[in-house]
Amino acid sequence: MHVMRLLAPAKINLHLRVGAALPSGFHPLLTWMTTVGLFDTLTFQTVDERAEPALQFTCDDPGLPTDGTNLVVRAATALADAARQAGRDLPGLRIALTKRIPSGGGLGGGSSDAATTLTALSRLLRLDWPTDRLAAVAATLGSDVAFFLHGPSSVCTGRGEIVRPIPRPRPRWAVLVLPGLAMPTPDVYRQFDRMRFDGKPLGSNPRGSDLANEPDWGTWSDLSADRLLPLLVNDLEPPAFVLSPQLARLRTDAEQVLGRIVRMSGSGSSLFTLTDDEPGARAAAGRVAARLHVRAVAVELAPVPAEPAKTEPVRTERLES
Ligand code: C5P
Repeated sequence: MHVMRLLAPAKINLHLRVGAALPSGFHPLLTWMTTVGLFDTLTFQTVDERAEPALQFTCDDPGLPTDGTNLVVRAATALADAARQAGRDLPGLRIALTKRIPSGGGLGGGSSDAATTLTALSRLLRLDWPTDRLAAVAATLGSDVAFFLHGPSSVCTGRGEIVRPIPRPRPRWAVLVLPGLAMPTPDVYRQFDRMRFDGKPLGSNPRGSDLANEPDWGTWSDLSADRLLPLLVNDLEPPAFVLSPQLARLRTDAEQVLGRIVRMSGSGSSLFTLTDDEPGARAAAGRVAARLHVRAVAVELAPVPAEPAKTEPVRTERLES
């Protein structure tokens, strides 16, 4: 019996430009994402070959489904199917998920869990697939699953699944404001479409963004927090703030309390700001939590995993069977 435990990091979208919807309904994106130091934990265990069911999945959050709709189960099933097609005889699997990344928060928790599952099972089942091969499976699971196979700082295009690593941002810390609201991503994109087609103003983005015009990422990644923050845009903020005026108010209040720019991650509801150092982030998180009575945490930005880059932190150990 083998056990492997991995941490699955959250992400934030530092910058997110959204183009007009494609016939598929998906939207072309240009986004700079980084991992942040807020983690779910996944434990993978192989069990007796003849175990039934072949996959047992448990999660400590009763609000999440544990059936075939959970992204962890979908990732494990996709990988196991591919392994069987390659003629592999598979042991039974037990997977346990401990959630700390809020769901529906625009932090990519489910996608990160799925990517971590692909990485773990590729090693545990001794497939040892290269990242490109895992990324092809990842793209079938969700738009930002592939990002988590690369990280910690990448530009993502297409519908989010084309990933290009770039240097980590110079600011080392972020403050996450976690309002405990679940923003359904499809609703936010639908509202984005409505605002375009109704001809209402959509912030700086009346017709969908011109995605061909990429920033100079090398310059951006070298800017301090105070210089980078004013350049960052999230095209999903206007539609998200129409759907949730409460979230719009929280953003305004957080900017007032902190005296600095606060942005939304992904389709919300998480908000963030950046700082150059840890004490600044901790002080800011404390101020937001005390004044606005909302959960706020200081997290490291794009934490660099120890070697080997894509699989740490990993602990594999042989247990008594
Ligand atoms: O790919 P994922 O499952 O994360 O997407 C969730 C939903 O977000 C999609 O069903 C779609 O409505 C919307 N979406 C989009 N364009 C993207 C990514 C997601 O419209 N590039």
